[in-house]
Amino acid sequence: MIAEDFILKNYNSNVESGSVKWESPSNIALVKYWGKKENQIPENPSISFTLSNCKTITKLTYTKKESKGFSFDVYFEGEQNEAFKPKILTFFERIEEYVTFLRDYHFKIETSNTFPHSSGIASSASGMSALALCLMSVEIDLGADYTSEYFNKKASFLARLGSGSACRSIEGELVVWGQNESTESSDLYGIKFDGEVHSNFKNYQDAILLVDKGEKQVSSTVGHKLMFGHPFAEQRFAQAHDNLAKLKTILATGDLQNFVKIVESEALTLHAMMMTSMPYFILMKPNTLEIINKIWKYRAENNSNVCFTLDAGANVHVLYPENEKESVLKFINDELAEHCQNGHFITDFIGKGAKLIEK
Ligand code: PMV
Repeated sequence: MIAEDFILKNYNSNVESGSVKWESPSNIALVKYWGKKENQIPENPSISFTLSNCKTITKLTYTKKESKGFSFDVYFEGEQNEAFKPKILTFFERIEEYVTFLRDYHFKIETSNTFPHSSGIASSASGMSALALCLMSVEIDLGADYTSEYFNKKASFLARLGSGSACRSIEGELVVWGQNESTESSDLYGIKFDGEVHSNFKNYQDAILLVDKGEKQVSSTVGHKLMFGHPFAEQRFAQAHDNLAKLKTILATGDLQNFVKIVESEALTLHAMMMTSMPYFILMKPNTLEIINKIWKYRAENNSNVCFTLDAGANVHVLYPENEKESVLKFINDELAEHCQNGHFITDFIGKGAKLIEK
């Protein structure tokens, strides 16, 4: 499909008002997206696990209005919030050619997260995907008739224009985004991974260790830009294609040892790109490294398949198969929680994607 296929052409402009509500999860990339072209087109393909517990719940109320500008209010956890408005305005500007009724209505956006505020967990993936899904439900209210496949593709297409990784939060359990030779996929939206997945990866677990709950010093928008002219960019983009192809086989065969190698290498490569850009920066903290070293020691001593991955921040995602749940949780409580701010971590697992809550 091409971008023009996502333009809403006809809609019933007599609809006065209504409301919709969606919940949408966060996701954690196994092969990382880092570097983008214009219009949020990724430089390389990525694949992620969709999460279950870490999610955003958004209610969108729309009311017909006369004036032609964008008009919306944002409430975060019950309180009116001005800080989110510029990001949402940029999002509206990017999607208005596809969501053609945007200027006809006033929107009240009420949103909340299941994970603690300022936990350092990126809420843009769950937040932007929840809002994109609400707008898709408004399209249905205004008379659009979509197959669920088109609905999901357009929701992902819109979410991508809010925040790249958000396009991987619509469905579960594994989602691929970005053109590549190994899977059916597009640069414009994420799709459910259609390859075989071995039972070793069923209900895979993710404990998110909150090492640093503060605001990141460098945003991912700036980080993506620094891949322009980066000395290792081309090799990195080629490596992501290669790792995705390898991961496809690993997922089919249940090869946990090689899963660990690809996932950890991807996390460290992401941070290596940050450390070797100009200007360079480091988002890991001393406790991030303490945790990584303890995971390596634990894995070697216990014949375990636990591994780590990182987002663009200091927090550590600890990934492990369901059959190691008890032992790894004990290890986290006994040895890793002391490296988290206030001993705080969140346990999560692979999920099936976003859900419509109310219409
Ligand atoms: O979606 P953005 O623009 O915030 O980029 C996030 C990129 C990473 O989280 C670091 C990697 C990924 O693929 O999710």
